[in-house]
Amino acid sequence: MAQNTESRHGMWSNRWMFVLAAAGSAVGLGNIWKFPYITGENGGGAFVLLYLGCVALVGIPIMMAEVLIGREGRYSPINTVRVLIQQHKSSPAWVIIGWMGMLAGFLILSYYAVIAGWALHYIVQMANGSFDGVTAEFANDAFNGFLADPWKMVMWHTIFMTATIFIVARGVTKGLETAIRWFMPALLILLVVLLGYGVNSGGFEQGFAFMFSFNWESVTAESVLIAMGQAFFTLSLGMGAIMAYGAYMPSNASITSTVVIIALLDTFVALAAGLAIFPIVFANGLEPSQGPGLMFVTIPLAFGQMPLGALFGVIFFALVSFAAITSAISLTEPALAYLVEEYNAKRSRVAISVGIFCWVLGIGTVLSFNHWAEKYIVSDLTFFTFIDYVSQNIMLPLGGLLIALFAAYALPKTVVGSQLGLREGPLAVLWKVVIGVIAPLGVLTVFIATILGLG
Ligand code: TRP
Repeated sequence: MAQNTESRHGMWSNRWMFVLAAAGSAVGLGNIWKFPYITGENGGGAFVLLYLGCVALVGIPIMMAEVLIGREGRYSPINTVRVLIQQHKSSPAWVIIGWMGMLAGFLILSYYAVIAGWALHYIVQMANGSFDGVTAEFANDAFNGFLADPWKMVMWHTIFMTATIFIVARGVTKGLETAIRWFMPALLILLVVLLGYGVNSGGFEQGFAFMFSFNWESVTAESVLIAMGQAFFTLSLGMGAIMAYGAYMPSNASITSTVVIIALLDTFVALAAGLAIFPIVFANGLEPSQGPGLMFVTIPLAFGQMPLGALFGVIFFALVSFAAITSAISLTEPALAYLVEEYNAKRSRVAISVGIFCWVLGIGTVLSFNHWAEKYIVSDLTFFTFIDYVSQNIMLPLGGLLIALFAAYALPKTVVGSQLGLREGPLAVLWKVVIGVIAPLGVLTVFIATILGLG
């Protein structure tokens, strides 16, 4: 029933470009600084199994739903949902999926660009040899000193945002595809190089044990929530980024196998990142920490103690920057495509406007680390933690839930059947149960638990 076989914004040259683009969106800060640590903390190999279960039961089905909805409509998420609502006479309220996704993209991009800017700053710091042989105290002070300097942070934030806007302004084929064609292979090569370095650092056994030994005792109810949240976030689900990319996917490519490959690639990068990072941390007698502390204090410190540490430190932060920029470009796509469609505007103009808007919003995040560190929006949430909370813990899960329900209950069986190549039989029933019951319940459980403060 798909009436459009092309999108007006352009198309991926082939199925593999779609795989790289979606993997580029999925592979980001979440894989490198979050997954390895939460795995170590929540039972190692046992957590990896739990996480794979969540990817299979919730992540893959919702990603399939996003791709099939996007490819069926072939517009920006907002207009795709609008068109499908009209065609299939469903409730106009579903269009909230598109609007909330666009807004979530703005919010996430605004702080993603700030943190990615930190990684750019650290490329230069590592290259200068600023961390050669330093103490833990020095590494800590260096990071805190950087956070206290809003001008420096704004400078790097501006550079990252400009690069993102430059790429997306050039369009799907000339901009996105070209960047992805270079950055994704570069990212994989850097990762393999770092992995080799980690394996030979002398801490491999300990690093491997931290990530993979099966500790069922460390698996708690909370681990299940964490695994589910991570599966969702790391696959870039819930805000229409994958839906927008799906609109540019060739009609003849199989959605199921493509999505499985993307999820495997994303998981591979997360596992490899852990196996690259923790051996280096343990080889230097350091304790793994989470989030900013791991990435911007422990890792520079560890590299500072190692032979060729400055070189590999540069490689590490270049890897983080590549991963971040291929995610950032996907955050803008739902909004760009929508604004181009709605106002017939030039893509470059729209890109610059969106960039300026998110850049200004990002200043709030920059200031949350210094001048506004004690200014709270609600309870103990600063501007940054508030935006982070609302987008990640509320808008994305809600968006994902609605996307699953839309695919399951608002679209006719024939549409889904032809997009997935599943009409009748046990697989069609399995799909319906997973997308209509299991995935929504999984997301809902995590959503409610998070709101209640359990996770
Ligand atoms: N998947 C990205 C990461 O792991 C982050 C992310 C979450 C994202 N939702 C997104 C990226 C939507 C792009 C679009 O870092």
